[in-house]
Amino acid sequence: MPHDPRYDPLFEPVQIGPVTAKNRFYQVPHCSGASENAPDANTRMREIKAEGGWGVVCTEIAEIAHTSEFWPYPSLHLWTDADIARIARMPEAMHRHGALAGVELGHIGLAAGNRVSRTPPLGPTSRLTLESVEPFQSKSMDKQDIRTVREQHIAAAVRAKAAGFDIVYAYASHGLSIFSQFLQPSFNTRSDEYGGSLENRARLLREVLEGMKDAIGDTCAIAFRFAVNEIDGDVVQGKELVEMLKDIPDLWDVNISDWPEDSQTSRFSKEGFQEGHVAFVKSVVNTPVVSVGRFTSPDAMLSQVKRGICDLIGAARPSIADPFIPSKIAEGRTDEIRECIGCNICASGELSYAPMRCTQNPTVMEEHRRGWHPERFSKKGSDDRILIVGGGPAGLECANILSRRGYEITLAEARETLGGRVRREASLPGLTEWLRVVDYRLYALQQLGNVSLYPSSPLGAEDILDFGMEHVVVATGASWRRDGIGRYNRHPVLTGSEGNVLTPDDVLDGAEIHGPVVIYDEDGAYLCNTIAEKLAEKGHDVTVVVPSAEIAPYLALTMEQHKVIARLMAMNIRIERLKMLSSIAGDSVHFACVHGGPGLTLSLGTAIVATSREPNDSLFHQLSSLGSALKDAGIKSVSRIGDCEAPSIIAAAVHAGHRWAREMDIDVSLNPLCYFPMPLSEKF
Ligand SMILES: Cc1cc2nc3c(=O)[nH]c(=O)nc-3n(C[C@H](O)[C@H](O)[C@H](O)COP(=O)(O)O)c2cc1C
Ligand code: SF4
Repeated sequence: MPHDPRYDPLFEPVQIGPVTAKNRFYQVPHCSGASENAPDANTRMREIKAEGGWGVVCTEIAEIAHTSEFWPYPSLHLWTDADIARIARMPEAMHRHGALAGVELGHIGLAAGNRVSRTPPLGPTSRLTLESVEPFQSKSMDKQDIRTVREQHIAAAVRAKAAGFDIVYAYASHGLSIFSQFLQPSFNTRSDEYGGSLENRARLLREVLEGMKDAIGDTCAIAFRFAVNEIDGDVVQGKELVEMLKDIPDLWDVNISDWPEDSQTSRFSKEGFQEGHVAFVKSVVNTPVVSVGRFTSPDAMLSQVKRGICDLIGAARPSIADPFIPSKIAEGRTDEIRECIGCNICASGELSYAPMRCTQNPTVMEEHRRGWHPERFSKKGSDDRILIVGGGPAGLECANILSRRGYEITLAEARETLGGRVRREASLPGLTEWLRVVDYRLYALQQLGNVSLYPSSPLGAEDILDFGMEHVVVATGASWRRDGIGRYNRHPVLTGSEGNVLTPDDVLDGAEIHGPVVIYDEDGAYLCNTIAEKLAEKGHDVTVVVPSAEIAPYLALTMEQHKVIARLMAMNIRIERLKMLSSIAGDSVHFACVHGGPGLTLSLGTAIVATSREPNDSLFHQLSSLGSALKDAGIKSVSRIGDCEAPSIIAAAVHAGHRWAREMDIDVSLNPLCYFPMPLSEKF
């Protein structure tokens, strides 16, 4: 199908210095939680994006020198010429599909731990290092150090050119750059020509940009990634810097700082959220501008270009959730775009030193290891029919992929609506966009003729025998426990019959809430604090009690924790930390101090207790115990997937459903990479 001609401007080529992007779709630099720990996986992930139509595909940060060590976070390296061959596989892969290849060179200065090289971290002055609790301070750089960093940066640019990159970056964003630290008076109190005025503080950056241009500017475009509020949050100085350097870079990649601000979740901001900050740049510079804002809608992208906000549509998360966005727009298949939900599970990969996962795209970082392509599926291997019990994220994804493979599917869901926990949780404040997980899959299923969906259809083991389908996949989810067992309490502390105790399931089912509410959160993610918000909005007096040192520790990995705490405080929700649930008796709830100090007793109308979940696996066990009755009914296999197998995040449920469907009738033992960890490089 041809694309809507309205979108033609998105497919115009854009000249960037000496190179030309074939269209305006620009995958900005983003890390993968793997980098050189899994070079094949990283390369294939980028290649898939190039195949999906992105005009430019960039890498994550590539360290320019051993004094800029990300360790233990995965990253790329361009320290020496020996690094060229390894990194060259990425531009090669991108070029195979006509994309330009960009590399983001970086020296992270005060954010480096230098734990391997044991060289002191570098900074404009001696300060405690960033991103660490260790009492390490930087060395205040002398002139030789400054000269060395400048030369290392330019040498890394020369290596980037030799590796085949078309666009080479200097980076001053997220506070994670030595240039940023020189730019910021809060770090830079030098009295020499590298400190004081903005011109002086920008001197190292200018020298590097000009040096890069001289060294590689004949064939490579020089890009500059700059957060407009990078200079101690002062946008006026940010604007002055753009004015000052406007004629040097071939491309301005502009955003806001720090990383949690740049990659805000949908709970806190909507598509296009950076526009108000970065829109001025285009009126200052004469070279192309790329900017970001979790763009998934072609109309929003078009509007950015038409209104002169940017020339290239930058995307990190949208390109992770759907690497084929440009192709889908080009082919008039915009309804098939798998839109990012803004949950930042992807970011949690890098922050937990693990290959990136995505709630919407289960194939990400599995493109090489398992050979999964996000848009291509092997044809069915038999005429077997499959019954899926449960229409949550695992069941819907399983049905979606199986039906694309050509199998005949029946999906039965006990509740009136499909979507399981996602539909229920999306009703909480700020989580509406999570419904995209359901909508995308339901839309896809509705386009296919080989699937029958039965909501309001609770099935027992006998019903399933009557169905007589060859394979049964149980995806019945999990339920919050009523006995208080979790990470802190390993034995029951509640009887389950306390009249005023609810679980999150009860709340999502609309249970009545009375009087002051005490929410006890061992889950540590988003559920309890969104419930707290919802109840406070309704006028309830709400206290959140956590056994951890801070609320929602998991949300540190999605970079939302600070925002959540600030929001709860702004809503006058009381927070009690380091207290674990002991008992609930009548209208009192008792907590012990996790360190043995004084406990806490609160009076309540309703307690909401979220400790851990139990798989809803009784149907699976009943079926599994039927033995020959299964065979007599023609059932060849009974499986369980998702939360019903092991409660986890939504991304894990989607992945489990996807995997089951991919592996149906496939001998996975033929792919030895599937069940082994990623190969680790021997860099160190
Ligand atoms: C998983 C992930 C990794 C990222 N890694 C980098 C990085 O290595 N370098 C960088 O400049 N920005 C990085 N970013 C920020 C993105 O480039 C981008 O500016 C930000 O996510 C906003 O764009 P989006 O709304 O399209 O995601 C990362 C973002 C994500 C989500
Ligand atoms: S993990 Fe969430 S935020 Fe990240 S790309 Fe996927 S859907 Fe978007």
